Amino acid sequence: MENTKLLLGQTLSFQNDPFHAAIDEACIFERRGAVLIENGIITDVGPADRLVGANPQAQISDYGDGLITAGFIDAHAHYPQTAIIASWGKRLIDWLNTYTFPEETRFDDSAYAADIASRYLDLTAANGTTTVASFCTIHPASVDALFSAAATRDMRIVAGKTCMDRNAPDGLRDTAKTAYDDSAALLTKWHGRGRASYAITPRFSPTSTPEQLEALGTLWAEHPDCLMQTHLSEQLDEIEWVAQLFPAARDYLDTYEQFGLLGQGGLFGHAIHLTDRERDRLREVDAALIHCPTSNTFIGSGLFDMNGLMAAGHRIGLATDTGGGSSFSMLRTMAAAYEVGQLKGTALHPAQLYWLATAGSARALRMQDKIGNLAVGYEADLVVLNLASTPAIIQRAARAEDIWQSLFPTIMMGDDRAITATWINGTKQS
Ligand code: GUN
Ligand code: ZN
Repeated sequence: MENTKLLLGQTLSFQNDPFHAAIDEACIFERRGAVLIENGIITDVGPADRLVGANPQAQISDYGDGLITAGFIDAHAHYPQTAIIASWGKRLIDWLNTYTFPEETRFDDSAYAADIASRYLDLTAANGTTTVASFCTIHPASVDALFSAAATRDMRIVAGKTCMDRNAPDGLRDTAKTAYDDSAALLTKWHGRGRASYAITPRFSPTSTPEQLEALGTLWAEHPDCLMQTHLSEQLDEIEWVAQLFPAARDYLDTYEQFGLLGQGGLFGHAIHLTDRERDRLREVDAALIHCPTSNTFIGSGLFDMNGLMAAGHRIGLATDTGGGSSFSMLRTMAAAYEVGQLKGTALHPAQLYWLATAGSARALRMQDKIGNLAVGYEADLVVLNLASTPAIIQRAARAEDIWQSLFPTIMMGDDRAITATWINGTKQS
């Protein structure tokens, strides 16, 4: 029974999606709650009184007023961009050419890749993030580095080799054949190993030839249980460029669709400037759209239509898009999602923001039965928040009359100082 742990604090979990159910019906909040973990799995959640009485053998971690929830799930990131986050003054294509591609070229050095992978996962854990879906670089070593670093931490992770065979500098291009072969080998090596999942990863249509997209579509058809991650309709210049590169395509989405890269398990980052046909097709196949609000404001991309897309029934996750995004923190990302929502005319409720960063992203990654919630049978990936982490937050939260008023100042003003603890697979991270 050594491996029975009981965490005490305020607890927040979801029994429904707060975009489609009333907030009170969607959320379960305990002022004095408890989470029981046995061998890395949550085996009970409820009032502390009952769980403490029923589990005298458990090792107790009492977080007092700390808020215990599922850990954050970052559904779209680029770990190789860790060291160039917050690079000034460029929009998407210039930003890629000026900052991103030169940095990604360095990942042919496996020692450098290992160093950044480890740095990145330390930063994400310090920010309460327990799962990421990350792009790597074209170098297989960059994929091995991230999966290895995640395995050391026992983290559930999604990652894949970023494929590019045109419009990228020397040293940062593969071919249709090597993209297929390397991806297939990495997939065989990592997919389903421990908590790892492989995602087939064409960077975006402008950096892949039709031959490469076709090869990756073939690979996906051979491994339909894998996810496929890419970018879609982030900036208007980019969309114009795609139209020039693929003159026969009906729209940007069609450049993926015609090569077998649209389907369930597709993760489309950004998805801001969508046509009606693109919306309809994405909804029909139930692909996931990943909202990257700090990136969309930082690179000047545009405003994601959360309200309209949620109302239409799209599967939507939330993400930092590190390092186009300006923060590793999913709290900062929730704040940006709130601000973008306001600019689009909708005030997202704190429950909706929090759901997006946990259960919503898990649903986007098709892992909603494993992670993203505090519920029996779920893997014990948790974050404990200090809802009084700075003087500014303390004085505002002092006026709170319910959990949402207590939580919202931390969502809007919080960062890694608000993270008291991060638990991954039932183990507290140091
Ligand atoms: N589109 C293609 N590659 C990237 C990238 O690395 N970051 C962002 N934000 N958009 C992209
Ligand atoms: Zn991205």
